[in-house]
Amino acid sequence: MEKKAVVIAGAGSTHTPGIIQSLLQKKQELPLRKLALYDIDEQRMNLVYDIMRQFIEQEAPDLDVVVTTDPETAFTDVDFVFAQIRQGGLAMRSSDEKIPLKYGCVGQETCGAGGSISYGIRSIPGVFGIVEAAKKYSPNCWILNYSNPAAVVAEATRREFGNERILNICDMPTAILLSYSKMLNLPSWRDLDPCYFGLNHFGWFTEVYDKQGVDRLPELREMILNQGMAVSDRHHKDPDWMHTWAQYVEIVKDYPEYLPNSYLQYYLYSQDMAAGMDPEHTRADSVINGREKEMFAEHQAYLADPANYKSPIQSFTVFGDFIVDAAASIAYNKAERYLVIVENNGAIPNLPDDAMVEVPAYVRSWGPEPVRRAPISTFYKGLIEEQLASEKLAVDAYFEHSYQKALEAIAVNKTIPSTTVARKILDDLIAANGDYWPELH
Ligand code: G6P
Ligand code: MN
Repeated sequence: MEKKAVVIAGAGSTHTPGIIQSLLQKKQELPLRKLALYDIDEQRMNLVYDIMRQFIEQEAPDLDVVVTTDPETAFTDVDFVFAQIRQGGLAMRSSDEKIPLKYGCVGQETCGAGGSISYGIRSIPGVFGIVEAAKKYSPNCWILNYSNPAAVVAEATRREFGNERILNICDMPTAILLSYSKMLNLPSWRDLDPCYFGLNHFGWFTEVYDKQGVDRLPELREMILNQGMAVSDRHHKDPDWMHTWAQYVEIVKDYPEYLPNSYLQYYLYSQDMAAGMDPEHTRADSVINGREKEMFAEHQAYLADPANYKSPIQSFTVFGDFIVDAAASIAYNKAERYLVIVENNGAIPNLPDDAMVEVPAYVRSWGPEPVRRAPISTFYKGLIEEQLASEKLAVDAYFEHSYQKALEAIAVNKTIPSTTVARKILDDLIAANGDYWPELH
């Protein structure tokens, strides 16, 4: 197998150690010749490299490792870009979450006014910068984009680049499949082939087939209703995520036809969710005091004794594994089935062709080949079209520098009760985002 070169863009992320771990544990599936780490925050990136270096040297002593803040060095001669940037860092995530909550609306990383609109408009230019650098220095590379909010980012890259050699992906449906596989006593999430439709963080499983071709969804539904939802990987076992898995059961009780993406909780119960959130302490604070603090503590341990330091190798997360597997499926034309975000073009026949939808696709060297399904029924279609409008309007607001479109993006979102509230939130978001946003008029 021909060896490949990968650059991780946003390498200072708390998710990077897990991605490096997956890359090197899967070196049979995706053999590497080069691993580049790229970030605009040099100190944070070096910190991640410090704690992973022992593992890299042990697993891949001959690997060409590049750690750089220079785009030309990072993006030259690479086959894959794993883009997972967080524009504005966790500080801006915190602001995105807290501003809507001030007005009693859901404050969430990727959902609602703080997610689709605030983070969406902020993320677009950052992701464009990565795509432009990748296309300039390695025109034939594939960009696997994890950067959030993935639905809005995918719509923006569709308009700007036609999503040519860009694959937008999210780990959440796969993390849920991991739970299902555990409930069914199957060794891996790969033992299940999902049928699924929707938008990113906004979709439903309609069938979940095992390798014998039996739809296990009815059995899973009964298990979820009677025993609750199994928690998935290490990432989603965090105490904060337990509420999500409890709420998952409520969604299935209220809407038993299909099995939901857990993010639907923020839309289907938006008032209850907002009421249960603390405007002074949101998920960003927990990540800062949890995952990020652990990473900093690891670095202190490294600094105390660099020569004897051992990299923290943890139980696997879907986040790392999924992106490496998807890259291998492209690299070696494996045509594996993954849930990915693609331009609709009839995959969901009664949604617009130009919607960026999340559906199963066979991932080949020339890209994803989506699976077409039957038209969806009114309830799902209505919910999806409303959310799609919000996402498209957020991207319009970015390109047109339009205050009105941003207002409409917020007002049409299911997490927002009225235009008065939408306008207050928007004005606060404009102030908080400063130069991260274009000036709206
Ligand atoms: C899931 C989603 C990601 C999201 C993450 C947030 O994995 O698919 O898009 O960023 O959850 O998790 P956190 O632990 O940072 O709240
Ligand atoms: Mn996601």
